[in-house]
Amino acid sequence: MADRVTVIGYDGAPLSGPARAALASATLVAGGARHLDAVDVPESAERVVMGNVHVAARRISEHRGSAVVVASGDPGFFGIVRILRRPEYGLELEIVPAVSSVAHAFARAAMPWDDAKVVSAHGRELRRAVNVCRAYGKVAVLTGPGSGPAELGLMLGDVPRTFVVCENLGTDQEEVTMLAADKAADRTWSDPNVVIVVGPNPVTSAPAGWIAGQRSNFPGPVRGWGLDEDAYDSTDAATLRPEVRAVVLGRLGPTPGDLVWDIGAGSGALSVEIARQGAAVIAVDRDPVGCEHISANAARYGVEIHVVPGTAPEALSRLPDPDTAFVGGGGVEVVAACAARRPERVVTVLPALEAVGAVHGALTGAGYAVDGTLLQSSRLAPVSGLAHRLVPDDPVFVLWGERL
Ligand SMILES: C[S@@+](CC[C@H](N)C(=O)[O-])C[C@H]1O[C@@H](n2cnc3c(N)ncnc32)[C@H](O)[C@@H]1O
Repeated sequence: MADRVTVIGYDGAPLSGPARAALASATLVAGGARHLDAVDVPESAERVVMGNVHVAARRISEHRGSAVVVASGDPGFFGIVRILRRPEYGLELEIVPAVSSVAHAFARAAMPWDDAKVVSAHGRELRRAVNVCRAYGKVAVLTGPGSGPAELGLMLGDVPRTFVVCENLGTDQEEVTMLAADKAADRTWSDPNVVIVVGPNPVTSAPAGWIAGQRSNFPGPVRGWGLDEDAYDSTDAATLRPEVRAVVLGRLGPTPGDLVWDIGAGSGALSVEIARQGAAVIAVDRDPVGCEHISANAARYGVEIHVVPGTAPEALSRLPDPDTAFVGGGGVEVVAACAARRPERVVTVLPALEAVGAVHGALTGAGYAVDGTLLQSSRLAPVSGLAHRLVPDDPVFVLWGERL
């Protein structure tokens, strides 16, 4: 094991005293080519240009002497520290951080960022990062080759977002460009870069919240799900009753990074409750009044929902593939159209007995393991004095399919 391993963050600023001291006495210095070129590597030290980080980590662990690893920004934030800390390398680390590219980027954009989500598409597929950009109004994306601003803009399609693209931060080639997301594919970008993605209503001047990465300070009740019907604007638009919504939400299991279709979204009560779990939602409804309610309810709860007025299944062909789909209206034809896009789960509600067999068959035939339940609930209603009676709701089947 190396006698000492110091991980130095580099952000373009002159190195701190402890970082310079560690470098001066290093017998091995590892880092990306651009980082090794940027710092003073002692002539006597072994230079390890990092390609495969695991190979480099093994080499460092076998080195006898003082090793230094130079990495970008804060090496503990989406950086090399996670790998170097693996037990198999047996390394004890000292870390001298610099300013993370994310902090640097928000500083260039002159924006607070304790309310921002930070996602990494570096060496990963971009899809889940894109879905977080759909779901939240302030997101920083750590990009990578092939997962950069152009690809991000293309995948966001017509979701209204503004990009602040920060290229080569802390270097002579630093560029900061603000543009509409749908223009990002019109030019090329240099690596490395960070993209700040902001929605139409960034609340940069709102009072501070208490937890990082979360919206706060928006009106309306913030706790729970399966909220009562009167928690939503819903005049003349269909709204799943709370008991059904709660079961559907549980079966969908939305989580940040997911894209959920809510087809036949009605007033958008379910869409709002999905969005409040951090998933991106595309809400489709053919009723313009319902679509207005969806937007109003999204605003009321401070969530981003992409509303698509239109009739399924036709309206679905233009949408990106979902991770999960709920079908609130449209029957077997729409369930089958959703299943054809291969989401992990499809959930639907069916008031009609005859529809159950047809939908079960369609989902089974499409390669889903199907299960379901009949929900029968009765609500308390006061009669006189302290007495209550039970008022039954209409029974409804909830069916769900898990992709095999
Ligand atoms: C593996 S992550 C490392 C993040 C790093 N630990 C930090 O705190 O900035 C690599 C990504 O960080 C971003 N990045 C790192 N250095 C950058 C720079 N000088 N300018 C812009 N983005 C940078 C890019 O998105 C790059 O793809």
